[in-house]
Amino acid sequence: MRTAIIGLQWGDEGKGKVVAYFSQFYDCVVRYSGGSNAGHTIEYKDGAKIVNHLLPSFYKGKDMELIISSGVVVDLEVLAKEIEEVKRICSKFPKLMISNLAHVVFPYHKLLDEKIDRETGIGTTRRGIGPAYVDKINRIGVRLADFENLDIFYNKIEVLKTFYQKIYGIEVEIGNIHDYYNKIAPYVVSQLEIIDNLKNKKVLFEGTQGVLLDLDMGTYPYVTGSNCSVTGIQNGLGFPVQIDKSIGVFKAYQTRVGNGPFPTELFGSEADFLRKKGKEYGATTGRPRRVGWLDLVLLKYAVTISGVDELVITKGDILNNIEKIPVCVAYEISGRKKDCINNIDEIVDAKPIYKYLNGWNSINDKTFLEFLKFIEDYLGVKIKYISYGPKIEEIKQI
Ligand code: GDP
Ligand code: IMO
Ligand code: MG
Repeated sequence: MRTAIIGLQWGDEGKGKVVAYFSQFYDCVVRYSGGSNAGHTIEYKDGAKIVNHLLPSFYKGKDMELIISSGVVVDLEVLAKEIEEVKRICSKFPKLMISNLAHVVFPYHKLLDEKIDRETGIGTTRRGIGPAYVDKINRIGVRLADFENLDIFYNKIEVLKTFYQKIYGIEVEIGNIHDYYNKIAPYVVSQLEIIDNLKNKKVLFEGTQGVLLDLDMGTYPYVTGSNCSVTGIQNGLGFPVQIDKSIGVFKAYQTRVGNGPFPTELFGSEADFLRKKGKEYGATTGRPRRVGWLDLVLLKYAVTISGVDELVITKGDILNNIEKIPVCVAYEISGRKKDCINNIDEIVDAKPIYKYLNGWNSINDKTFLEFLKFIEDYLGVKIKYISYGPKIEEIKQI
């Protein structure tokens, strides 16, 4: 059984919590794209809480394998610290495999990310993700395998020094990268070993970011540097793995960190209210998240292009005790009503048209079920699970 769990909005849908819950039914969890731009929060039953940036999310107490595949760009300092943190909260550390083909994020990638972001105004996490992928494509990137041969490693660094100075005016410094590498070295294996290891196992692929941040299909240019939809899995694994089921996770409302179009965005006191109620502050950067009402036109787009088979809704509990819940069911674009988009660029000038659904006091209320039914009818895909709190166990099947 191979299942993918991905985000259907602009990230932070609660994927980490959902993956951690489902992982108890699988042998391994695989991260296949992105890097430490991701921040996946997991709150365990015993009160332990972690925010994973690079390690796959997992169910504590069950034996399982965690895999960081070749499509991920790895910040060694972040990963080394994360491993220590997980060791601190787990009596038994899961088996971890990190691909030797994964590219490494260096301090100069973060400097470049910041420099470019100041020009473009994308509002990246400044974790060096885009620049690390660009080096990969420019064929000057450093992979984990390069750390095994210091001659190769330092030759590459010399090339990078000249390149970064000439092209970007940035000094390449590597700091104490080898200390961090030594901490993760015991877990580095060949990508072929990873592929081989997945045979005959129940595998869960953990998406990062969300479909609307996908490099190709998202709200370009306000997107991330990788394919974070289901489509990223095969590339990120280097193997044409068959996915049996894809699960899309979406929030009962909408959030976004960084810039870019957001038709249902709220401002002022309304935004402050929802942000505070939902504790919407970035898990990676701490930035206040932009917030707004659920946008079904965009969700339909995300469901269509990702081909997900079923849905999980999160954070319906955050909307408890609101009399009427606005849900965007169509846009007005250049004076014309549209209830679906042919091209995501259309949302730049879209004004939301809302339907006001009855609110609920608890997710057990009939009106919440009516809200779910309305969404399912609009999307034509079933909502199979409701997540109703941050803790792993706060999820139920419907
Ligand atoms: P991810 O990046 O998709 O894993 O999501 P984040 O961890 O960045 O943000 C989701 C936040 O919502 C985290 O603080 C979670 O603990 C929390 N969360 C997840 N699901 C629920 C839920 O159903 N209800 C509530 N109240 N909080 C949730
Ligand atoms: P998770 O996995 C929310 C956003 C950034 C910025 C854009 C590009 O926790 O859902 P990048 O640093 O990737 O080049 O930034 O993408 N972004 C995220 N927003 N959740 C994330 O990850 C994100 N990862 C990147 O805010 O708008
Ligand atoms: Mg997040």
